[in-house]
Amino acid sequence: MIEDLNRDELSARIRELKTARNAVILAHNYQIGEVQDIADFIGDSLELSQKAAAATEDVIVFCGVHFMAETASILSPRKTVLIPDPQAGCPMADMITAAELVAWKNRYPGRPVVCYVNTSAEVKAECDICCTSSNAVRVVESLAGGEVLFAPDKNLAAYVARGSSKKIIPWDGYCYVHNNILARDIREKKKAHPDAVVWAHPECRPEVIDLADKVLSTGKMVKEARTTEAGEIIIATESGIIYRLKKDNPEKDFYPAHDLAFCANMKKITLKKVALALEQMVHRVQVPPEIADRARGAIEKMVKL
Ligand code: 13P
Ligand code: SF4
Repeated sequence: MIEDLNRDELSARIRELKTARNAVILAHNYQIGEVQDIADFIGDSLELSQKAAAATEDVIVFCGVHFMAETASILSPRKTVLIPDPQAGCPMADMITAAELVAWKNRYPGRPVVCYVNTSAEVKAECDICCTSSNAVRVVESLAGGEVLFAPDKNLAAYVARGSSKKIIPWDGYCYVHNNILARDIREKKKAHPDAVVWAHPECRPEVIDLADKVLSTGKMVKEARTTEAGEIIIATESGIIYRLKKDNPEKDFYPAHDLAFCANMKKITLKKVALALEQMVHRVQVPPEIADRARGAIEKMVKL
């Protein structure tokens, strides 16, 4: 019984089930350490979309939040995509519905609409192109016209506006984890670690971005950590990434900008739930084909950029 297995036994059982089901395990950089350890690939939203699109296995187990698994299912409609906990949603993605987006578009006719991947499939189906935190400026710059509607993250929109010639019209959404990181937290950490540099995720507030030495997606933080000459880094994003940064770079010190920067939904995925999903083949994520076909266009435009 999976319920009775310890951590090592669970990891071994997951490996067996992975082979039996011909499955690949994809995990976001914010996942708990033991889930990261059993993943075949760990990455940011863009990297995971690309891996999902290229996967050759029959089954994708997506250790992340619901919109990420939905994106994998849209890009690989013939594969079985499982999310180990179907309650693992993204509160920011829930801040805009398709009906709200349509009404907003009608108020600004002719403006292209960029949707952050942190949105539902229904919302993606109503937008022109998606973006992630690692390509948002490039996506906005690729569009015609001087004004762009950008949903749902107002902080990412403000960050994009700094690097873009276009007027960005933002939706009023935000990520509670990043929004809770304040400029005062950064100043306090800098006082405690005067030699440390600051890396912030673009979902942070503008006043936090102002204090950052670099603004990076989680995937870019992982890459930058391998090559940076800095030995101490204050990380202004969800703290799960610190497990990976420390594992990859044991000689460097990483300090969370905020000690409680945890995404409760990302933490819902556990080894036990991964094993149960694979054993019972449950919690399949499926998007109705008429929605998936429209959302796929917006995601593929981004992936090709
Ligand atoms: P990344 O694409 O940078 O991994 O960000 C995803 C996310 O949900 C950030 O909160
Ligand atoms: Fe959503 Fe924020 Fe959690 Fe990322 S960290 S999944 S944006 S709530």
